[in-house]
Amino acid sequence: MLLVSALVVLIGHSLAQECQKRDYGNDGHVCVCNSTYCDTVPPPSRVEPPSYLIYTSNKAGLRFAKSEGRFIESNEISDKTIQIHPNEKYQEIFGWGGAFTDSTGVNLNSLDEPAQDNLLRAYFSNDGIEYSLCRVPIGGTDFSERGYSYDDGDEDPKLENFQLAPEDFKLKIPFIKKAQNLTWGNLRFFASVWTAPKWMKTNREYNGMWGFLRYEMYQSWADYFVKFFDKYSEQGIQFWGLVTGNEPSLAMVPFTKINSVAWTPAMLSTWVRDNLGPTIRNSSYSKIKIMMLDDQRLFLPWYPKLVLNDETTHMYVDGIAVHWYYDFLLSPRLLTETHDSFPDKFLLATEACHGDKPFQKHVDLGL
Ligand SMILES: *[C@@H]1O[C@H](CO)[C@@H](O)[C@H](O)[C@H]1NC(C)=O
Ligand SMILES: *[C@@H]1O[C@H](CO)[C@@H](O)[C@H](O)[C@H]1NC(C)=O
Ligand SMILES: *[C@@H]1O[C@H](CO)[C@@H](O)[C@H](O)[C@H]1NC(C)=O
Repeated sequence: MLLVSALVVLIGHSLAQECQKRDYGNDGHVCVCNSTYCDTVPPPSRVEPPSYLIYTSNKAGLRFAKSEGRFIESNEISDKTIQIHPNEKYQEIFGWGGAFTDSTGVNLNSLDEPAQDNLLRAYFSNDGIEYSLCRVPIGGTDFSERGYSYDDGDEDPKLENFQLAPEDFKLKIPFIKKAQNLTWGNLRFFASVWTAPKWMKTNREYNGMWGFLRYEMYQSWADYFVKFFDKYSEQGIQFWGLVTGNEPSLAMVPFTKINSVAWTPAMLSTWVRDNLGPTIRNSSYSKIKIMMLDDQRLFLPWYPKLVLNDETTHMYVDGIAVHWYYDFLLSPRLLTETHDSFPDKFLLATEACHGDKPFQKHVDLGL
């Protein structure tokens, strides 16, 4: 039997600027970026078969270091095997990215402008890691310095007092625009909301147990999304997707202080069917992808099954958004089961961060 095996030939270093390593005693290195220097990533390129490229990042300080190899015919049995099944296709990858939260903006604003630009280049440009799909919160989140919505006064079902917050103008929009520029517009956004205005909710608070949406506010809440897209559109920012609400489960866990709207599957199904779906599809944003859940694997596949049981709701929903926080307890098989139950709905990982557990309170640089 003739086998094809791989031979790695290190073709020297690419033209990228090197990582300026710094060791914080955490068993790895960070790369220091400042106002005049930042390491860069070589733009991806193609090579002709039988050559191939490998990009290596590791704790020792390699960051997307490029090397080239060549497949050769060989009879040797290797201990490493990669099997390729070209006819088995999975879901398209929509992109990679992060989130334009208030805390992102606070941290960027703590740097001088040339350092901000270097950092944004590292994330977005083709000298960097080319983020292509980013989350933008609608209003405040648990990564904000205060709780807020875009209509915080008295009860206002017609949303006459809807307006963006100072945070949008200081912490989000300027950086989103710079990122758009760095990607030449090849950056897609999806919007996710944490809480409704207090007056729309049954508990009249941003957070706390059982903070459902008041039934008589269902239409106002759908209109709120459209108002948000209008305001961002005025700033030159268009959205590819939306999520029905960040982590509805937060409002069912005692003692959480995170802003949220509680949705039982039945309530969510009704709201999407009667309010959000028709409102979005009849708006200037009719092509936007509507994602549901935005919560942990724990809810798969039973919660989407209950929501999408309604044929009309099923028609409006494009995808199912999933977070990563309890993945160490919950098998990825749940994703497969969800896919198999709804092969026409995509799955998208929409949030992951480190530091959510009580024992993870520090940023350990270089870990
Ligand atoms: C930025 O980092 C580079 C490379 O480590 C260094 O040569 C330069 O002095 C630093 N600049 C500032 C302003 O700290
Ligand atoms: C991006 O920024 C450059 C330099 O600041 C500017 O000349 C250019 O017009 C911007 N392009 C877009 C698409 O905003
Ligand atoms: C648009 O709105 C009308 C009237 O409210 C509704 O009957 C129709 O189903 C909506 N269209 C879509 C695509 O949801």
